[in-house]
Amino acid sequence: MTSLSTVLKESWGLVEDRQDRVAQHFYARLFLSDPQLRDLFPVQMDVQRGRLLGAIVSAVQNFDSPEDIDGYLRSLGRDHRKFHVTPEHYSQVKVALIDAIRAHAGEGWNAVYEQAWNDVYDHIAAKMIAGAAEDTEPPYRHAEVLHHERRGADIAVFTCRPLQPLKFRAGQYVSIECGYQPRLWRTYSIANAPREDGTLEFHVRAAGGGWVSSALVRRLKAGDMLRIAAPMGSMTLDPQSRRDIVFVTGGTGLAPVKALLDELTRYNRTRFIHLFRGERQDDDFYDRRHLDQIAESCPWLTIVRAASDEQGYPGERGAIPDVVSRHGPWRDHDFYVAGSGAMVNATLRRLTEMRIPSTRIKYDAFTDS
Ligand SMILES: Cc1cc2nc3c(=O)[nH]c(=O)nc-3n(C[C@H](O)[C@H](O)[C@H](O)COP(=O)(O)OP(=O)(O)OC[C@H]3O[C@@H](n4cnc5c(N)ncnc54)[C@H](O)[C@@H]3O)c2cc1C
Ligand code: HEM
Repeated sequence: MTSLSTVLKESWGLVEDRQDRVAQHFYARLFLSDPQLRDLFPVQMDVQRGRLLGAIVSAVQNFDSPEDIDGYLRSLGRDHRKFHVTPEHYSQVKVALIDAIRAHAGEGWNAVYEQAWNDVYDHIAAKMIAGAAEDTEPPYRHAEVLHHERRGADIAVFTCRPLQPLKFRAGQYVSIECGYQPRLWRTYSIANAPREDGTLEFHVRAAGGGWVSSALVRRLKAGDMLRIAAPMGSMTLDPQSRRDIVFVTGGTGLAPVKALLDELTRYNRTRFIHLFRGERQDDDFYDRRHLDQIAESCPWLTIVRAASDEQGYPGERGAIPDVVSRHGPWRDHDFYVAGSGAMVNATLRRLTEMRIPSTRIKYDAFTDS
């Protein structure tokens, strides 16, 4: 018997090379069925780059291990409250989704495919709706920007304070919406462990032409208000583990690692920590002074910086996965990896080659690779 995941992949294969047209059909059908739904989506929405269709297709296509994604779907459902999504919207989206795929699949489409998309979508939607229903926290909090500082051409570090306290664990991320780009939410890692005064630090890199990151780096200023949704992510410290730790970061991947370090500075005495930072060139190592101060007061912390593109760089040179493996073998360590998708993937590949068990690796990829 053909497995569900094969059926889903086969059926998506019928339209994969026409995704733009499927997307146009999907959004047109959705907004025609209920014009008010348009107000949930970004004002300057470019259908080809609209995020919802791709996100649903990827959730459906990756549906082979439901128990692994149960918690993720519940938190995604909770998080969707920030878009003002209600349970009724799920069936409207399903009708538009299946209609769009069927319309572009041609004669290859059949009743088995239709049933599979219906069943899997319903299952995912039920988890998301349940996650939203069981949450008693507000969908988002307002936060005031207290301090904003440029660190080089395209990076900013800013601090804000939510008007109501936000419970989170070091290493988690939140979705942020700023007044300069209404209805566009993007995820950013909190760069500190929970503080008594409730303030949160963020590190943002302006991705060339990116809507939200450009605004957060170039326009945001002290006094501005942000919206911050519920914390998500599991790149947190394992309280049971006594193993030494290796952190591997690139760019603003430093943010969640700095939060984990912040937590460790509060109680760690016994675990040796190595922090590997990979950047293109010397100027990219923002926040270097603060990290060096932490290393001076914490003898368990070693920082290794490596530049990949600067000929005369006085420290380590090369791509960060190579540098990490040169310092190995790291047989009994916990690993935390954060940065661009390309850097994270390259590091994970290298760790697999080094036979590090995947259960000891946690990671957050900030972009598709
Ligand atoms: C778990 C997680 C944690 C994250 N934490 C952080 C963090 O701490 N710090 C941080 O800086 N980032 C972080 N990110 C990345 C962040 O969420 C955003 O993806 C990033 O800031 C880009 O958002 P944007 O709106 O500026 O770009 P978008 O507008 O969404 O554009 C995305 C990409 O497309 C490109 N692009 C934009 N416009 C066009 C166009 N017209 N045509 C073609 N390409 C275009 C941009 O150059 C950009 O690279 C994190 C991501 C994840 C998943
Ligand atoms: C199976 C059900 C669904 C799944 C798996 C899903 C998943 C997602 C994910 C992962 C994103 C985030 C994309 C990102 O941040 O890059 C997203 C965005 C979004 N979702 Fe959903 N979603 C579902 C149903 C819905 C429904 C029913 C609505 C209501 C209309 C909705 C409205 C939105 C909106 C408005 C966005 C932002 C779109 C944008 O910025 O372009 N989603 N969805």
